[in-house]
Amino acid sequence: AAMTSGAARRRLDMNEYRERLEARLGKSREMMRVVLNKAKSNPKRVALSEGTNEKMIRAAYQMQDEGIAEPILVGNTKTILRKAEELGLDFDPTIANPRDGDWDHYADRLHELRKRKGLTKSEAAETIRRDTNYFASVMVEMGDADAMLTGLTHHYPTGLRPPLQVIGTAENVNYVAGVYMLTFKNRVVFCADTTVNLDPDEEILAEITKHTAEVARRFNVEPRAALLSYSNFGSVRNEGTAKPRNAVKVLQDDPEVDFPVDGEMQADTALVEDILEGTYDFADLETPANVLIFPNLEAGNIGYKLLQRLGGAEAIGPMLVGMDKPVHVLQRGDEVKDIVNLAATAVVDAQTE
Ligand code: ACO
Repeated sequence: AAMTSGAARRRLDMNEYRERLEARLGKSREMMRVVLNKAKSNPKRVALSEGTNEKMIRAAYQMQDEGIAEPILVGNTKTILRKAEELGLDFDPTIANPRDGDWDHYADRLHELRKRKGLTKSEAAETIRRDTNYFASVMVEMGDADAMLTGLTHHYPTGLRPPLQVIGTAENVNYVAGVYMLTFKNRVVFCADTTVNLDPDEEILAEITKHTAEVARRFNVEPRAALLSYSNFGSVRNEGTAKPRNAVKVLQDDPEVDFPVDGEMQADTALVEDILEGTYDFADLETPANVLIFPNLEAGNIGYKLLQRLGGAEAIGPMLVGMDKPVHVLQRGDEVKDIVNLAATAVVDAQTE
């Protein structure tokens, strides 16, 4: 009987687990569905700078097939067509081949943008022919594409540098940042910065917080931001804890900030209602935060990966925020669905340009 009840209990656990899993997937699917539908209502041109990569080709097929975006595969035409055929994908992709055709105007534009940063005319021509990240960046900068995706086959900084140099930040933005949306059962959090700024000061932290709050709103989530640290509201006072503490002052004094924000605080303070209502009932947050701003890149990158792998969150990102045009730099291991999801968020961004 003990065996049976144990097995029954395990079955119950399994059922409960499945239910939770479904609720969680349901939530992230629901959030993504909003974005996918919005993308489909007005699909935009997305340059995929790693056009010969099989995952990119599959993703391009799916985007085109489902009407999410109009993909432009950047790379060697023959290679792309051969791979598409090998993958059994029946489509006629739009391809931009940097080594074939007349792209002198791209080289000229790149030279114009970078000539006072040490780039010569012949180097610009060579870069356009050889480096598809620069090619795609110029393509977007010149308006021949509306957005860009890269990152599958490079180190993250290698994919990020060309768009930073060519496209740059939006007006009134100094620092871009990488945001992850993590969905759990009945809860969603937006984490930043997870990918770009190594050691942000208070001004940068404040800027990142505003960008991240905007991302939350794009997913129909009303932001409540916490600046995280290992101390609570001055419980440890040193240079490190001062940055998020001062960032909160910057934000609370900013008339543009129309969402609750507080800190510095520990992660559990930010997430547990009892702590916010108890010890820290003076905090500007009444309910747990859903925008989590990490004090530096180590904390941000490690933090979101722990949540994703141990906490079982569904992750969408990294969404690069603050660029003048939508650009996303993927991670090496990302899957086709990650590419399509980020392409959809880029399309939705491009719609409001
Ligand atoms: N926001 C906006 N623009 C920036 C930023 C920023 N945070 N940082 C640099 N730039 C601009 C610069 O102003 C410069 O423009 P300019 O050339 O027109 O003057 C251009 O980008 C290049 O900047 P550099 O200083 O020459 O380039 P750097 O080598 O410092 O690279 C980079 C910048 C790539 C963002 C760098 O800070 C970096 O490597 N960050 C960490 C990335 C990383 O390793 N992430 C973790 C892994 S990612 C993951 O797990 C998915």
